[in-house]
Amino acid sequence: MSLPRGTDPFALVETYGSPLYVYDAEEIRARYRRLAAAFAATGLVTRAHYAVKANMNAEILKLLRAEGAGADCASPGELRAAARAGFAPADISYTGNFESSDDLAAARDGALYLNLDSLEAFERLRRLGVPETLGFRVNPDEGRGAFAQINTGGELSKFGLSLDEVEAAYSRARAAGVKRFGLHLMPGSCILEAAHFGRAVAQLLERVGPRLRALGLELAYLDMGGGFGVPYRDDENELDVEAAAAGVARAMREACARHALGAPRLLCEPGRYLVATSGSLIARVVATKRRAERRFVGLDAGMTSLMRPALYGARHRFDVFARDAEGRAVAITRRAPSPADLCGPVCESSDFFEREAALPEVAEGDLVVFREAGAYGFVMSSSYNGRPRPPEVLLDAGRTRLIRERQSLEDL
Ligand SMILES: Cc1ncc(COP(=O)(O)O)c(C=O)c1O
Repeated sequence: MSLPRGTDPFALVETYGSPLYVYDAEEIRARYRRLAAAFAATGLVTRAHYAVKANMNAEILKLLRAEGAGADCASPGELRAAARAGFAPADISYTGNFESSDDLAAARDGALYLNLDSLEAFERLRRLGVPETLGFRVNPDEGRGAFAQINTGGELSKFGLSLDEVEAAYSRARAAGVKRFGLHLMPGSCILEAAHFGRAVAQLLERVGPRLRALGLELAYLDMGGGFGVPYRDDENELDVEAAAAGVARAMREACARHALGAPRLLCEPGRYLVATSGSLIARVVATKRRAERRFVGLDAGMTSLMRPALYGARHRFDVFARDAEGRAVAITRRAPSPADLCGPVCESSDFFEREAALPEVAEGDLVVFREAGAYGFVMSSSYNGRPRPPEVLLDAGRTRLIRERQSLEDL
């Protein structure tokens, strides 16, 4: 999605400067309501725990809490942000990776649903004292993701326990005093195929179920992770979340009945799905350059503002705006486009948003608005090269509110 109708990017830049992150509050609410309704329609006891890693701005956390979401955290810093936004431990899950003893102590006290990443983490937790409710993240045999770097399952993945550690993990947990057990999976991110979700749950429960049954254990909760995708390209379709939720519920009911796993609560941890489409990154054209046949368009935002393209080759659709004679913003994105490399000002050869992008002729001062920048955008920003992190602005009920100030040179 682009900026909400009627939003003038030049007016925003005049007020808040550039580059600038802008989020549409109504879009986040609408996405949450659709997803929550899809899961509620399954008739199971369910809750969506927003994956704080996708965007941890305090105002966005508060907005989602007000809608009824829980929170999923991956570090003590995220736990602190969730607690400050008003989430109670009973609303919070914690799913970390290579958790230190300090991480585990914070997670044990700050989150009711603690999903451990390894047997070694369990041993560290045992020394601290185990909680009554405890889950394990089990690595599904196969991962899945829109591209390799966001695939989080399978043999090469660093996440979770392997299947042959399952019996040891749950029996040691029970011996240490755990009373209620959870199971967590997260095969990957940005998946648009609805059938994937039920299939992944069915496959994992088919492998883990007999092992738990042999131990005589039921599940108090199943946490299916996140991974709900959003389209980043024109040729991609929206995920059918209703079908995804129904497929997961069906798989869970069948497997729980077959393996006598009880009637677990179903948790999910959507990040991208809730916030990606709400956000845009507005950047200004600062310079253009031609070398032989190549055209470069340089922006004031680069990999320090939006890292996904440089980090793993992700693409963000964009719109280009110029001012007309009356000073109004006009979209010129499709005006006689020709290939140009769209790049940032950072001293790294990977500082490109897109090579050979279809770009109109642009002039200094024109604006490029990157879409679907609300997830894994600001949270991955840095001040490398002495570039301050951009500010964040929330559009809500016709009003515009600064929800994070631009980092200052003094901060650096
Ligand atoms: C454990 C866990 N939960 C939830 C998420 C959120 O994923 P997504 O943004 O794809 O929904 C992630 C993302 O990496 C994750 O690792």
